[in-house]
Amino acid sequence: MEKTKIILDCDPGHDDAVAIILAGKNPAIDLLGITVVSGNQTLDKTVRNALNVTQYLGIDVPVFAGCSEPMVRKKITAGDIHGESGLDGPVFPPLERKAEPEHAVNFIIRTLMESDGDITVVTTGPMTNLAMAMRMEPKIVSKIKRIVLMGGAYTNGNVTPAAEFNIVADAEAAYVCFTSNVPITMVGLDVTRLALCYPEIVDRMGKIENRASKLFVDLMRHFCKSQKETFGWEGGPLHDPVTIAYLIDPSVLEVKPMNVQIDIRSTQSYGRTNCDRFDYLHLPHTADVATDLDVERFWNIIEENIRLYD
Ligand code: RIB
Ligand code: CA
Repeated sequence: MEKTKIILDCDPGHDDAVAIILAGKNPAIDLLGITVVSGNQTLDKTVRNALNVTQYLGIDVPVFAGCSEPMVRKKITAGDIHGESGLDGPVFPPLERKAEPEHAVNFIIRTLMESDGDITVVTTGPMTNLAMAMRMEPKIVSKIKRIVLMGGAYTNGNVTPAAEFNIVADAEAAYVCFTSNVPITMVGLDVTRLALCYPEIVDRMGKIENRASKLFVDLMRHFCKSQKETFGWEGGPLHDPVTIAYLIDPSVLEVKPMNVQIDIRSTQSYGRTNCDRFDYLHLPHTADVATDLDVERFWNIIEENIRLYD
């Protein structure tokens, strides 16, 4: 089986942690490195969380600290959902792993420039690291096979009515990426809000009784509680792992080519992914936008990948 080479850029984050579970052991994925960005929590916390998750699961992949601030706007975080640590819930053994000395942006540039143009960059947090890499070394643009991002929405946002967190947390970075002409698959709230982790899903994964199963349960108990307290939902939407599930089995998503433009000008709609779903403007299509999720297949992928761990 030909593996899909990926760099996973993330802001762990409960759902980012589940994306790491999927990417860490799946035989179809060659996880070259995990680059971390400020997002759900400050960079020191998101880096610590990525190290804890990979150490606990025995995922021997380098972790790189990236940008601690957005490119232009003031930083925002999401402690209301992910807690003070950014990964409240699980209790990890003493952390021995360390982040690599190389900055994440330099790792992204070096890895892409040394490649044959066969690397997919998956972003599940604000796109700051990737955008900064594009600005520092424009030659990487032609070396990126595809960007698969969790972010945006053509329906309502989740930070403002217009905007989703990963985009609005650094809309200028998203603008750089969406105007780069790199092939993009946008996995927005439109489909990730179908991946609702109800208590019966937590129970189903808890029955597997291995490390990944325990981590999933400990993560979801907190994540779902905070989603219920914040939004009143019985099941928390598991956003980020939909990107990796798509790379494992593209049939899990339906996508539609659209012209997508990032609003960095307006106040009310700053960070909006304006998706021309019905081609009103007849502009070039700039992203394949996910429009539907095979929910049953998604949870089967989650279960199959949790079972890959000891
Ligand atoms: O809007 C959801 C996204 O923002 C997810 O990636 C979550 O982890 C946060 O980063
Ligand atoms: Ca995330």
